[in-house]
Amino acid sequence: MKIGLLGHGVVGSGVSKIIDDGLTWEVRELEIKRILVKDESEITDERMTLNPADILEDPEIEIVAECMGGLEPAHSFLVEALKKGKHVVTSNKKMLATYCEELFDFARENGVTVHYEASCGGGIPWMASLDRTRRVDDIDSFRGIFNGTTNYILTRMTKEAGSFPEILKDAQKLGYAEQDPTDDIDGHDVRYKVALSVVKAFDSVINVNDIITFGIRNITLQDLEWCREQGMTCKLIGTGSYFGDHISACVIPMFLKNSDIFSNIPMNFNVIESTSKTLGAASFIGQGAGSLPTAHAVVQNLIDIWKDQDSEINPKYKKPIDNSTHTGVFYIRTAKPEVFAEIAESISGDTVLTKNVSLVEAVKKIQEASDESLFIAEVREA
Ligand SMILES: NC(=O)c1ccc[n+]([C@@H]2O[C@H](COP(=O)([O-])OP(=O)(O)OC[C@H]3O[C@@H](n4cnc5c(N)ncnc54)[C@H](OP(=O)(O)O)[C@@H]3O)[C@@H](O)[C@H]2O)c1
Repeated sequence: MKIGLLGHGVVGSGVSKIIDDGLTWEVRELEIKRILVKDESEITDERMTLNPADILEDPEIEIVAECMGGLEPAHSFLVEALKKGKHVVTSNKKMLATYCEELFDFARENGVTVHYEASCGGGIPWMASLDRTRRVDDIDSFRGIFNGTTNYILTRMTKEAGSFPEILKDAQKLGYAEQDPTDDIDGHDVRYKVALSVVKAFDSVINVNDIITFGIRNITLQDLEWCREQGMTCKLIGTGSYFGDHISACVIPMFLKNSDIFSNIPMNFNVIESTSKTLGAASFIGQGAGSLPTAHAVVQNLIDIWKDQDSEINPKYKKPIDNSTHTGVFYIRTAKPEVFAEIAESISGDTVLTKNVSLVEAVKKIQEASDESLFIAEVREA
């Protein structure tokens, strides 16, 4: 099966290595016909081209694997590929989460499929496991530590009592965090992964902007000390739950019991867990990024397409996100604690502990407070 590869960076070069090495008979059935690169200086192989039409207009190429990242031109290239009846595999969570409804519609109209294992959890076979679980059962909910950078920062802050800015700088030096860390520390990266997990787990496209998202930018040692005193550990969690007519989905720091398996996932590791009726909770732990692990996930999808294993893979529904069913107790540190009086169980200095309230109610108060240094975490007793 002939493949056109868009992008030859960290993930794309891993994909071409795995396919060119051809260690298994399945991989040897795949052939990379053309590779799109951006600059003349990157051309090191006769398959490489600077012209996207060499891939998108080639009728022999049946699958386009996109590993470029960013919204454009990745999005436009994939629209064109789908319209030309080519299957698509992408590792690009931001682009697919942003345009999921449109891209899946084009796929359906043109009788092809969109695959995205690598977009969420790197090499962890999370999407494949959701597909398998759904053959037998409905998935009720999922939760995950989806972002290695923030898990690294939280682990080190907890263990060494280092400040957020210091440890973020270290993470940048070690290459765990981007020079512009916004997507990671403000929770956007997790939001995209939650959106794509919703697509797969609940068979529904959603609007990514409806996922309530809080990150760890404002976390301080004071917050972690409070958490430690409760016998808890702080993790940035993405979750989704299915309620039939709607879905709840959010990204929020959580204070979890130290006995929770998630509390013990260290440094830049990821863990993702689904819960379904007959299987119960099933967790997957591993490196959520890296060239070959992520490329492995891309190649798995290419083999799925070649074997025609997932012809029904495009999601069928469009369900609304409604977080009013997400209730809990929230820890809120703010310069304006008085704003939270109505929903507070207790207020001590700048720290509010809410009653059991819906996340939507807590968000309304947060908007009212308009406090840029505010930190919120959900306190999970169970
Ligand atoms: N790295 C990981 O571990 C990992 C894990 C999971 C998912 N992902 C996702 O996979 C995608 C790729 O990530 P990456 O780490 O491989 O990024 P990367 O190393 O920056 O690779 C992207 C490559 O695509 C090239 N490119 C960008 N625009 C192009 C264009 N218009 N035409 C041709 N080539 C173009 C870039 O060239 P220039 O460098 O010249 O711009 C670069 O070589 C992203 O969406 C990322 O979120 C990455």
